[in-house]
Amino acid sequence: MSEIIFEPFRIKVVEPIRISTRREREEWIAAAGYNVFNLKAEQVMIDLLTDSGTSAMSHHQWAALQSGDESYAGSKSFFELEAVARETFGLPIVIPVHQGRAAEHLLFSALVKPGHRVPSNGHFDTTGANIADNGGDPVNLPIPEAADTAAYHPFKGNVDLQQLEAFLQNAGDDVPFVLLTITNNSGGGQPVSMENIEGAAALCARYGKPLILDGCRFAENAYFIKLREPGYADWEVPKIVRKMFTHASVITFSGKKDAFANIGGLVCLRDEELAEKLKNRLIVTEGFATYGGLAGRDLAAMAQGLREILDENYLKYRLRTIEWMCERLLKNEVPVLVPSGGHALFLDAARFFPHLPPEHLPGIALVIEIYLRGGIRAVELGNVAFGKRDEGGADIFPRLDLVRLAMPRRVYTEAHAEYVVKVIGDLYRERETVGGWEFEKEAPVMRHFRSTFRTAR
Ligand SMILES: Cc1ncc(COP(=O)(O)O)c(C=O)c1O
Repeated sequence: MSEIIFEPFRIKVVEPIRISTRREREEWIAAAGYNVFNLKAEQVMIDLLTDSGTSAMSHHQWAALQSGDESYAGSKSFFELEAVARETFGLPIVIPVHQGRAAEHLLFSALVKPGHRVPSNGHFDTTGANIADNGGDPVNLPIPEAADTAAYHPFKGNVDLQQLEAFLQNAGDDVPFVLLTITNNSGGGQPVSMENIEGAAALCARYGKPLILDGCRFAENAYFIKLREPGYADWEVPKIVRKMFTHASVITFSGKKDAFANIGGLVCLRDEELAEKLKNRLIVTEGFATYGGLAGRDLAAMAQGLREILDENYLKYRLRTIEWMCERLLKNEVPVLVPSGGHALFLDAARFFPHLPPEHLPGIALVIEIYLRGGIRAVELGNVAFGKRDEGGADIFPRLDLVRLAMPRRVYTEAHAEYVVKVIGDLYRERETVGGWEFEKEAPVMRHFRSTFRTAR
């Protein structure tokens, strides 16, 4: 008998879902300019827009909120967070910020100068935008397997070490640091292996570059290492985590992911001189170094979340949820990205709607159709989110046109997952009836957030 894994928690507070009709959803999405970011949350039945800041907190986290210390300086909640972050990650200096992109903004304003180029396995959109904002160029060097959504590779989040070495040789002083995103969100929530982290660290040491880890989903990455990388099956997850971060000079972290927090982030580092710089800058942008833009209660909730995230029963359930959805869709031949990632199910929109050319935005068509049919909110991470224009205005499309359905942590049950799988499976059978879309109003940056769309002419 195969093992049945159930949600390892009981639900003691519930938030009712408003059940809507297709007709209502047609009106709402039209009023939203066919961009699901413009919908009101109550117009969505199952919200898989993001796993960021959407976790259900535990009763211990809610209790921690009550005991948060709201002192402006020297808050007890900060010292508790500092202790748990040091213990978890192993880096001595801990600076709180209000979320992940604030960590990126703070750090990159100190390290990235115009003309710099920053190689990575895959920059997340806010990471790339914060590098570009400081005049730098974010460069993605994923392994070739990452470009094929149907190819199986246990660590599709890996950076291509050969390309990285060639890049470091050629770019020289223009490279301020190397950045690895674990897991790689934009590339399908795919993990990075310990071997790859160590390989990147060795190159960084050889070329005298710091290694920065974007550790948003560090716990999911560590559990993938335990499951998929030879030699780690018997390791406790906290030990894997400590090893992953051994070579990191700096960690940027959004507590809205693997700390079950609704808000919060961290920069963790070793270099005291850099930390001084960041803390001085922090006062201008986020706040004093013991609260960094957060209430004391938020620091306390994040600390408690970090204590909970490495529970193996939770991680097993978490990764299995996505794997189960993936398996069900594959049975119906739906083009999902394999192997399953950590926090989300990714659909390959180009393969889902092969009759739609890239300029008819297959990913947007898929997001709109999933909403209309099921009241489910997904996000396009493809031609719109990562596409650009050349100087003449012609489209430059990314390698993959993906749609992400991100599972908030501890929020939805297996029945919700089953409903999502059914809606997508039914849509796939009728895929040829779906038409294309084009921009009505195109936003200048991170286009998926603020653009609006109309049916393609
Ligand atoms: C890999 C990665 N890095 C950075 C961020 C930015 O974090 P935040 O949303 O807390 O600003 C995200 C958010 O989704 C992410 O997935």
